[in-house]
Amino acid sequence: MSTRALMRKLEDFEAPRVVPLGGNLYGASFFLMKLLPARFMLERAADQGLLRPGATICESSSGTFGLALAMLAVQHGYRLILVSDWALDRNLHRRLIELGAEVTIVDRPAPSGGLQQARLDRLQGYLQDVSGSYWPSQYYNPDNPLSYGKVAEQLVDRLGRVDCLIGPVGSGGSMSGTSRYLRTLFPDLYAIGVDTPNSVLFGQPSGKLNLSGLGGNILPSNVDHSQFDEVHWLVPAEAFHATHDLHRQHGLFMGPTSGAAYRVAKWWSRNNPGKTVVALFPDEGHRYAETVYDEDWLEKIAGWSDPPRASPFTVSTPMAPMSGWSRFAWDRRSLDDVLAHASDQHDTAADPRADSARSGA
Ligand SMILES: Cc1ncc(COP(=O)(O)O)c(C=O)c1O
Repeated sequence: MSTRALMRKLEDFEAPRVVPLGGNLYGASFFLMKLLPARFMLERAADQGLLRPGATICESSSGTFGLALAMLAVQHGYRLILVSDWALDRNLHRRLIELGAEVTIVDRPAPSGGLQQARLDRLQGYLQDVSGSYWPSQYYNPDNPLSYGKVAEQLVDRLGRVDCLIGPVGSGGSMSGTSRYLRTLFPDLYAIGVDTPNSVLFGQPSGKLNLSGLGGNILPSNVDHSQFDEVHWLVPAEAFHATHDLHRQHGLFMGPTSGAAYRVAKWWSRNNPGKTVVALFPDEGHRYAETVYDEDWLEKIAGWSDPPRASPFTVSTPMAPMSGWSRFAWDRRSLDDVLAHASDQHDTAADPRADSARSGA
């Protein structure tokens, strides 16, 4: 079999199931969304001579991208070194080891950029020490968003038209890439990114993140801010409640970033009844059986026993303290543009519960 044919052995797992969720709302439900960008990046690197047969792949990941790389690396005879942190749960860790990945855990945050930066620092060490090693670099490699042309095509094949796309943002690849391709057919597509407070991706001050896969403490170049019409932020408890709703209301057993997208998509689709709305659901729930789907674990999560907000609080700046579901009109602007205007309007009175949330009260 040719290298390319070998790389495509798992291709059938890449396409989302497009599931009707009532009215004008659809979920694009992935077995493991990251299989597509991972395969595409490795294939392109092999074509360009950057990844030679039997070489070592090094990446920083505590989640689904690492799993996708591990599934591909073991099939194609690459060695894989993954640099991870506390967010790597026990079950995923076991699965990575079973697939032959070498996993190294970073436990001390860097002075600036937190654990994410500390992981990147350790990764640089491996890249220097292991000759011929290749770094896919999901946060900065333009092949990550580029790979989502295929998802855009699958959505159009299935639905004919998409008016609004909603999804969680981590590396930025899926939302930026899918929106960019869909807009070649539907320039008016409305794109909504879902983030979490303390993530710098859309201008929040950096802080501790408790939702694996969502947001970040470093800004990746793959977040193309000019693609987003609106941004929402959900705190972890809200995302977890929404994940349970998705399971109970539709039988979709998905991860918490899917729940976050579902919460926002349900609200937006109700308010825009004539529009075809698609929410991206990036991974299944098995990995979270001992966390997001475990009542004992959930009891310790801040705000879990509070009733979740039924609708978002509209903030006048993305820098505002946020105690719960918040929303901001991004209007396809650059981050610099938004922040330049936001600093004129810093408005802590916007969310009455925010100050106590930020001080941990
Ligand atoms: C479970 C999960 N959901 C959502 C995302 C965000 O997707 P993207 O990196 O394409 O922005 C990630 C990213 O790693 C993820 O692991």
